[in-house]
Amino acid sequence: MTIRTAVLPVAGLGTRFLPVTKSIPKEMLSVVDRPLIQYVVEEAFSAGIEQVVLVSSRSKSVLEDHFDSHVELEMALEAKGKDELLQLVKDLTPPKGRSISAVRQSAPLGLGHAVLCAQAVVGREPFAVLLPDDLIWTDDATPSVLTQMVEQYEKIQASVVAVMEVSPAQTNLYGVIDPSNPDVSKGDSVIKAKGFVEKPSPDIAPSNLAVVGRYILTPEIFPLLANGKKGAGGEIQLTDAISALLEQQSVFGYRFSGTRYDCGDKIGYQKANLALSLQRPDMRSELLPFIKEQLASWS
Ligand code: UTP
Repeated sequence: MTIRTAVLPVAGLGTRFLPVTKSIPKEMLSVVDRPLIQYVVEEAFSAGIEQVVLVSSRSKSVLEDHFDSHVELEMALEAKGKDELLQLVKDLTPPKGRSISAVRQSAPLGLGHAVLCAQAVVGREPFAVLLPDDLIWTDDATPSVLTQMVEQYEKIQASVVAVMEVSPAQTNLYGVIDPSNPDVSKGDSVIKAKGFVEKPSPDIAPSNLAVVGRYILTPEIFPLLANGKKGAGGEIQLTDAISALLEQQSVFGYRFSGTRYDCGDKIGYQKANLALSLQRPDMRSELLPFIKEQLASWS
């Protein structure tokens, strides 16, 4: 079965980014000149997704507005002959055959609960989950991470979660895969999971392969989320349901090609802005001398 639907949970409170997130959704923070949400929506469509479902909340309708047409603005740009900007704005609305819709999560009861809120729209099909605060950059020669994962799903027909190597000292910051074959050092990209451990301290971590915000899940995850007990932080955790899914069917980790920036965190967000600005030839020429100047003043 092909992956038609992508669920984008955007109903979190974004407390790590207060005060800006008091009135602006974290997913609208911009990296260079695009809001975080736009990167994941584009990634989803590039992977062949037909319907994107935002799991949103009361204060976040601006996210839907970003992908809706803005007639007044389009007319003004047209009248001024600003064709490039007009195209930029028009390209935000989904192309024919693609859609962006939203369901509500009435209270931030956790990522697992947010995914469960999309069940009626997803139906009984495998689906993707993308977390907008994980920006995963791939160069022009590399397919997007979700494209890579859909390709793997088509081969193995089982749930796939994105994993990346982190330094062993950092395992306590992530959910970590417990691989069936403990020898993950040889760099296989697809890794069969025996379990997942949430934020293990380095001395007991089963691997240093951390789960990041891209998943392809089979619909059997939904009853497990519905029956899910509250886990860490009193929230319904997606990782707990994926661990329960493992008792019924295989789940694989996928070591993707790409660079992940944790844009839910202030440092990761700044790194993303810096790295992606430097990718742009027009910005690089002014930014590089500025960075060198700054470095010199600090040394
Ligand atoms: P995070 O824990 O990173 O996001 O959840 P948060 O809760 O918004 O941020 P902090 O920790 O308070 O700073 C990962 C993703 O899951 C969504 C978030 O919007 C984010 O995209 N999420 C989280 C929900 O949609 N609902 C929830 O109840 C919790």
